[in-house]
This record gives sequence, structure tokens and C-alpha cells, in this order.
Amino acid sequence: MAGVTDAAYRQIIKRLAPEVVVYSEFLSTDAIHYGAKKTMKMLHFDPALEHPFIVQIFGKKPEHFLSAAKVVEEMGADGIDINMGCPAAKVVSSCHGSALIRDPVLASELVRATKEAVRIPVSVKTRLGWESPDTLIPFCRALVDAGIDALAIHGRTYKEQYSGCAHWEPMYALKDVISVPVIGNGDILTAQDALEKIGNLDGVMVGRGTFGNPWVMRDICDAFASHALSMPTRDRLTFAQKVPLILEHCALAIELKGEERGMLEMRKHLASYVKGIEGARELRAQLVRVETLAEAEKLLGEY
Ligand SMILES: Cc1cc2nc3c(=O)[nH]c(=O)nc-3n(C[C@H](O)[C@H](O)[C@H](O)COP(=O)(O)O)c2cc1C
Repeated sequence: MAGVTDAAYRQIIKRLAPEVVVYSEFLSTDAIHYGAKKTMKMLHFDPALEHPFIVQIFGKKPEHFLSAAKVVEEMGADGIDINMGCPAAKVVSSCHGSALIRDPVLASELVRATKEAVRIPVSVKTRLGWESPDTLIPFCRALVDAGIDALAIHGRTYKEQYSGCAHWEPMYALKDVISVPVIGNGDILTAQDALEKIGNLDGVMVGRGTFGNPWVMRDICDAFASHALSMPTRDRLTFAQKVPLILEHCALAIELKGEERGMLEMRKHLASYVKGIEGARELRAQLVRVETLAEAEKLLGEY
């Protein structure tokens, strides 16, 4: 997730749930092709802590997918995911992300170029469709014909953006007729949601449900490991018990980006971590202004 799943975030998730597959933020194939400094930095990951690691790329020029994919493979990623789902106006207006749903020929060409460049698996993350889920199966069949190894589907159309509830039925219908693994995505907030929604699919992908609650990934893994439709048996953590990991997240962000940038970016995470606790409003108001790890330690310690 753009602005969220940097190396610090991924490492926190992996610490709690080592079996989880983590993805980079979406990165421009144009930027990787030209070796843009900021994007190349965003490609860095810790091989000891982040495998399996998938780099998500976006763009529209097949020749840039070819060169970017090679770079991603060479730096040691385990897979490449192509973004064909982002609904942001800036992305769609330049024919990236969700816009590719309306251009299956180009979408297939991008898959072929990527597959030609690398040996690691190549997947696509997309949405149910542009304005209706009716095109999901033909669109995904074209991607499979182009050589895609797996699909992740966010259960909303482009038109729905983030409104309403994600629809999982079209994903189940897709899985029935498609030969590659299908991963479902949309509105998973708890392990119970994951167990109830996976249906005939091969996996679930969790986005916003991890905001302030990376522990949910451990709950989900526990729940699937127990093969039972029951809530995981781990005791709920108190906020005080969560504080050490929150501070570790801050320390990782600082290690990767320096204290000024790292803590600036941590502010939104700190605000999410305290959501729902008693006195959250006052604490959040202070946390979104922190500049140093020491300040965060003091505020959380005092709480
Ligand atoms: C802040 C934010 C950034 C996101 N960035 C990406 C991205 O870079 N690539 C992507 O495929 N989806 C991205 N998404 C979409 C999520 O991956 C996911 O498909 C969507 O939020 C629905 O799943 P959820 O209900 O589990 O969050 C982003 C979502 C949010 C809220």
C-alpha cells in the first residue's frame, strides 16, 4: 500500500506473522527504468527478514515493464505484482492502475513483457471491473492467456472506489473457472472475517485491517493453521503490551529513513495504533506532532 508498506511496516508484520507474504508500495516502472533515486531506494528490502517479498509495479509501457522487472528480479524479490486496480484519479488519467481494466489488450501486453523478462512469478492485482463485475472473468482469462501466475482481486469496481462493502461472490465464481491461484481482498478486519470470506479462494490479502493492528495478521495465520471456524485462542493484548512493538516500529522507521523523516511518517501509524483506546483523542493529538523517538516513548510510557 502506497505510503504504508515500507520496509519498516513489512518487517513489523513479518515479526508477528513470518508466514505472511508482504508487498512493497506500488512503484513506477518508468521510475525504475530510469533509475530514479527515490524509487530505487523504495525497492530496498531486508532479505533476512522479508521473504517472501513481492514488489508491486505499475505503468503502461511494455518496454519499461521489461527492464523494471529485470531490476526487481535481480534485487532478489520473490515475485512481481502488476497493479491494475488503483482508482486514484492521477493514476487512472494517465492510463495506469484501474484504467487497464478497460484495455485488456495493453494489460495482456504488459503481462507478456514482464513474464518474458523474469523467471520469478508474476501476478496481477485488480478490481472486479470498471463499473460492473461482468468483465471480471474475460479480463482475467486474457491475463491468464498472457501467462499470469496468480491473481489478487479487490472486491469492488473502479466506480465503487472504496464505498459500500466488498463483494466476494464474483471472486468465487472466477476461481471456479480459472486455472491460477486467486487471492481475495476487501474488508478483512479480523481472523473471523478471513475464515468466513476465503471460500474456495487460495488466500486472502489484508490492507486497511492492519492499520494500527498488525497483530491481525498473526490472528489470521493462527486461525488458518488451526483449520477451524473458531476465533484464535491467543489472549488479547492490552495496549500496554502493544507498546514495545509500536516503539520497535518507530525505531525501524528511524533506522531506514532517519529520525526526522521516520517519525514524520510514523505519525499516521501512531494515530492508528491508539484508535479505540481510552483517552485516544488527547493522546492522538500529541502523537501526530511527535518529532523524536524519545517523545513517542514518553507519551506512550505516560499513558
Ligand atoms: C493508503 C492506501 C494505499 C494503498 N496502496 C495500494 C497500492 O499501492 N497497491 C495496491 O494494489 N493497492 C493499494 N491499496 C488498496 C489495498 O491494497 C486494498 O486493495 C484495499 O484497501 C481493499 O482492501 P482492505 O479492505 O483490506 O483495505 C491501498 C489502499 C490504501 C487505503
